[in-house]
Amino acid sequence: MIRDILIAPNPKLKTISQPVRQVGARERRLMDDMTETMYAADGIGLAAIQIGIPERIIVMDLREDEARKPLYFVNPEISGQSAKKAIYREGCLSVPDIFEEVERPAACRARFLDYDGSPQEIECSELLATCLQHEMDHLNGILFIDHLSRLKRDMALKKLRKAKKREESAPERPSLAL
Ligand code: NI
Repeated sequence: MIRDILIAPNPKLKTISQPVRQVGARERRLMDDMTETMYAADGIGLAAIQIGIPERIIVMDLREDEARKPLYFVNPEISGQSAKKAIYREGCLSVPDIFEEVERPAACRARFLDYDGSPQEIECSELLATCLQHEMDHLNGILFIDHLSRLKRDMALKKLRKAKKREESAPERPSLAL
C-alpha cells in the first residue's frame, strides 16, 4: 500500500525513532509498504518516520540497473566511518524540489537486521554510504537540510513553506477555462 510521505517542516520528522523489537509479519508488511511508497515517489531511500511511523526501519534501492533490488535495514547502527569525506548533492522525498551539497564520511560500515530479522553487516562507499547515512539521520530526526549553513537551510524552509501555501490556496476543483 502506498502511504503518504510527510513533508518538512512537519514536526513529526524530528521524532527520534524507536528500535524495532522483533522483525515479524507486521514489520515486513510495513517494509513492503515503504518500498512501494519509495518506488511510487521515484526515490532511492525512505525511512519509516517519513510515512509517520517512528520505528528504526529504512528501505533503499539505488536503482543501479533496471531490476528492483530493495535493501532493508532494521535497527541500523554505524560501526565505522572513514575519516575521508565525500560531497554529494542530496535531495529528500520529505524536502521536495530542493537539492544541496552535503559533506559526509565517504565510507561507513553498519550493522542491522535484514528483512528476515537476521543480523547483517555492510561496508558502504560512494552513493550507498551517503544514502545510508542520510536515511539513518531520519531515524534521529535529522534532515539533510540540517547539515547546511543556516542561511541555506532558511532559504530551503522558506521555499517549502511557499510551495505549501500555493498548494493550500489552490482551488479544490479547477475552474473550467472555456
Ligand atoms: Ni530523506
